[in-house]
Amino acid sequence: MSPAAGDALMIFRDSTPMGFLKVYLFKYYRQNMQQLRRSDINESIALAQKVIEHFGVHLPFFAYWTPEQWTKAGSEFDEIRACMLGWDVTDFGSRDFKNIGRILFTLRNGKPNNKAYPKEYAEKLLIDPEHQRAPAHFHRSKREDIICRRGGNILVQLTKADPSGNPSGDKFTVQKDGRTIRLSPGDIVRLRPGESVNIPPRTIHQFWGEEGTGVKMEGVGFTLSSEISSVCDDWEDNVFMDKNVVRFPAVDEDEASRFHLCHEYPAAS
Ligand SMILES: [Fe+2]
Repeated sequence: MSPAAGDALMIFRDSTPMGFLKVYLFKYYRQNMQQLRRSDINESIALAQKVIEHFGVHLPFFAYWTPEQWTKAGSEFDEIRACMLGWDVTDFGSRDFKNIGRILFTLRNGKPNNKAYPKEYAEKLLIDPEHQRAPAHFHRSKREDIICRRGGNILVQLTKADPSGNPSGDKFTVQKDGRTIRLSPGDIVRLRPGESVNIPPRTIHQFWGEEGTGVKMEGVGFTLSSEISSVCDDWEDNVFMDKNVVRFPAVDEDEASRFHLCHEYPAAS
């Protein structure tokens, strides 16, 4: 869990008058920070394409399709729409995209309880600028491998969730590249390029590119990681520790979209 997210949780648990004042100030601060802008999304995707190209990885055609191309796309592309393949850029409602956010590309996925899309697995490519991380969360049913591919290191912080969904104080084990490792709550696993860790369901996790280890592009260190998991349902399966998190937040449309996000495709023409 990031220091910022941890502080926020402590504030919401404080029921003293000072605690209520802190909650008010926290909400005021949050409301007055910058909403995720379409220009941020456009820039992030353009930079992600460059980073991915730099690392010698190739993406399928729909990583480059414009909104105009999508208006002419027929039902043969429905798997992309239904399984939410493609670009996913979010600040999780943090209004602090530089530090709390995610830029990723979903390559493959299924759709639970839909026979038309029976894949039981998912794969995502994650672009990890140093300093940016997703809010701490666990999955009700998804099991995922986080794999550090290229660039710097990925740090993965792990804690088991108790039956109520709160952080557990129990020790636990995970598999790191086939090796069983024993962890205490909040321990951080370092993944160097090529290494991976398996995150079972109901394991609170947060991961990010280790500061100072990524490949510098436009002044920021980048690492490329991927997630291979059971089928991913980002609408229903995520439990965030900060209950204010919004997985797909509203966007300030300060300029035209250059690419649709994975939940923005128009219906087949
Ligand atoms: Fe996750």
